[in-house]
Amino acid sequence: MTTAGGYGTPRVSRLSSLDAAQADLYGGPSVVVPPKHLMASTNSHETAMEMEAAKQHFDEEVSSEEGSPRVAPPVTKKALTTADDFALAFDIDGVLIRGGKAIPEAASALRYINGENPYGIKVPYIFVTNGGGKTEEERCLDLSRQLELEVSPGQFICGHTPMREMAERYHTVLVVGGEGEKCRVVAEGYGFKDVITPGDIIKTRHDTTPFRKLTDEEYKNSRVRDFSKTKIEAIFVFADSRDWAGDQQIILDVLMSKNGHLDTRSDSFDEGPPVFFSHNDVVWSTSHEHVRIGMGALRASLEALYKAVTGKELNTIAFGKPQLGTYQFATRLLRQWRKNTHAINKPPSTVYFVGDTPESDIRGTNEFNETSEADWFSILVKTGVYQEGTIPRYPPKKTCNHILDAVKFAIDREMAKEKKAGSTIVDDVDSELELEAGLLPN
Ligand code: G3P
Ligand code: MG
Repeated sequence: MTTAGGYGTPRVSRLSSLDAAQADLYGGPSVVVPPKHLMASTNSHETAMEMEAAKQHFDEEVSSEEGSPRVAPPVTKKALTTADDFALAFDIDGVLIRGGKAIPEAASALRYINGENPYGIKVPYIFVTNGGGKTEEERCLDLSRQLELEVSPGQFICGHTPMREMAERYHTVLVVGGEGEKCRVVAEGYGFKDVITPGDIIKTRHDTTPFRKLTDEEYKNSRVRDFSKTKIEAIFVFADSRDWAGDQQIILDVLMSKNGHLDTRSDSFDEGPPVFFSHNDVVWSTSHEHVRIGMGALRASLEALYKAVTGKELNTIAFGKPQLGTYQFATRLLRQWRKNTHAINKPPSTVYFVGDTPESDIRGTNEFNETSEADWFSILVKTGVYQEGTIPRYPPKKTCNHILDAVKFAIDREMAKEKKAGSTIVDDVDSELELEAGLLPN
């Protein structure tokens, strides 16, 4: 653990999103590796893996202090310490937030890991959500308000964050989903040079979607253009569609075109551009007592529609959890966050990932754990998609009632591990806590 004023004074400067984006997180090649069967070819998959390996090698080289032995300084009972051997990663919807409001235990859980715990420690943490539809900065402002503490873009990944790495590859793109112009703003912020929205297409040809009329606001913001001179190179679904029928019609038109020229139609139906989704959650947790359908449902529906209309299979690619690339991205984010904000220059031994959706959070964490250097430990909470009494398709290592129980479990487990290892740091630990965590014989 690092102590305040201990070895190395932490640099308190926060990672701005730009710092994070350009310096260490996004500077390398694409790390999102979709499932092999969804990749364009075996070669491209291998290339992506090789590029990622090269990036990891680079990351290891720049962190020259990593792995160097450290001697823990003596810690007094009251000293404020930062845990440097473990970290936390949180899903958002169904764990911290439901229907735009904080889950009751969320604020106290965050206070707990920020020092209000019996051990007097702070634990570094990041947020990894499949949600999106706004810039990372705007989303962090929302979260800060909802959770009553500052959340920085340097500790935040949403479903479409890794898509910024595609901006160099595709010039003219169709961006679908979200409210108003927000996703166009996100895409332009990622560096996409020419961003088209469904609104632009409807404003240019109002009969594109017979049952959808643009609102006055949408009409004002949308841009008429000459689509006979426009080649749409890729389609990105950044956030949940607000108009499934209209958006599906437009996506199908582009997919069935010759090389993304909207005014053409392919004879073979295999000349359309690729389509990327920012995640594949079929359902998600909101204020409603039952889960609501999400982007994964749109993806499935679009694939079925394409087959029905063209007779051809449509291969789409999803980012987000449970894709391993998202966890690799999270690993880099955590490394940078711990280094810049907590002066910790080594990887954590254990990362506890707290989520509510077995198919994305738990599956991704468990699968990433099989190959990652750190131990990624999955914790499933009962405040979201997962329903008590059901058997999760992807079993977690631990199930907790809510996020507060989850963080208590994680910290207790770590403290018990340290005590077992004979560390001086847990001299003041109440062994009852370890018994509660089920880690010592009773
Ligand atoms: O649309 C967002 C939702 O599918 C899941 O968000 O925070 O649970 O990953 P989250
Ligand atoms: Mg969730």
